[in-house]
Amino acid sequence: MMILSMAAFAIAAPVSAQTMADAERLVRAAQNVDLDRAHEIHMETCFACHGAEGLSATPDTPRLAGQHFQYIAKQLADFKSGRRESTVMQPMAKNLTEEEMLALGVYFNVKPSPAQRVRDAELAAVGRYLYHRGNEFSGVANCAGCHGERGLGTDELPRLASQGTRYTETQLKLFSERPRTPDNEIMHTIASKLTELEIKALAAYISSME
Ligand code: HEC
Ligand code: HEC
Repeated sequence: MMILSMAAFAIAAPVSAQTMADAERLVRAAQNVDLDRAHEIHMETCFACHGAEGLSATPDTPRLAGQHFQYIAKQLADFKSGRRESTVMQPMAKNLTEEEMLALGVYFNVKPSPAQRVRDAELAAVGRYLYHRGNEFSGVANCAGCHGERGLGTDELPRLASQGTRYTETQLKLFSERPRTPDNEIMHTIASKLTELEIKALAAYISSME
């Protein structure tokens, strides 16, 4: 299994990484974690909702494939401690050790996350504008400035590219209404100024990003 994971890793790492520095950090992390253990946990628990390849099995469940390992590990720690509230994820994270969280992060980070097909191209075009230019009339900053031109994020910021529409919409609403904790300062300011149409448009465009 180790050989399989490492083969997938070699192919996916440059694609899912925003910069060479990101890719190098991922390579280093992969050498220091137990990917077999991560695979075991995934097949026992996570796979039912997040899908065999981390591409999500239901619309409410986020894709984890291609997501930064540091971000995944931090979210798991926050679910475990209850700092990020989720009745679904809290019990999933409660028995994970710090090493397992990091290993799970790397395990998903190296998996490829292809773009999703957009149902409404005109809606996605509105999303593309907002993503790259923001909305100067309502004071919404563009998303690209932080999450990157291609939506790949950084080691401190989540990847958005190719995420499912329903999950992105839900998170933007949670940020807007504030129950998403603990790091909601920045995203609250942004999401609270978005209209329903803008949220749907952004989610559609983001799902189509590679
Ligand atoms: C019963 C379904 C289910 C199972 C099983 C499950 N998850 Fe989740 N997961 C979810 C849902 C739903 C969310 C969104 C939570 C929210 O924001 O309210 C989520 C969110 C996450 C996130 C945050 C992603 C992001 O982009 O912020 C991570 C990381 C995660 N899960 C990892 C795991 C791991 C690792 C396992 C296995 C140990 C697992 N999940 C098992 C349903 C599940
Ligand atoms: C100033 C920087 C900044 C800007 C601009 C920004 N974001 Fe974020 N975003 C963040 C940070 C930081 C987080 C992580 C919050 C956390 O850890 O809970 C985040 C998280 C998110 C998440 C949650 C991802 C997940 O996997 O759960 C979504 C969705 C999101 N941002 C969408 C957007 C959209 C859409 C825009 C543009 C309208 C945008 N962001 C603009 C900094 C930014």
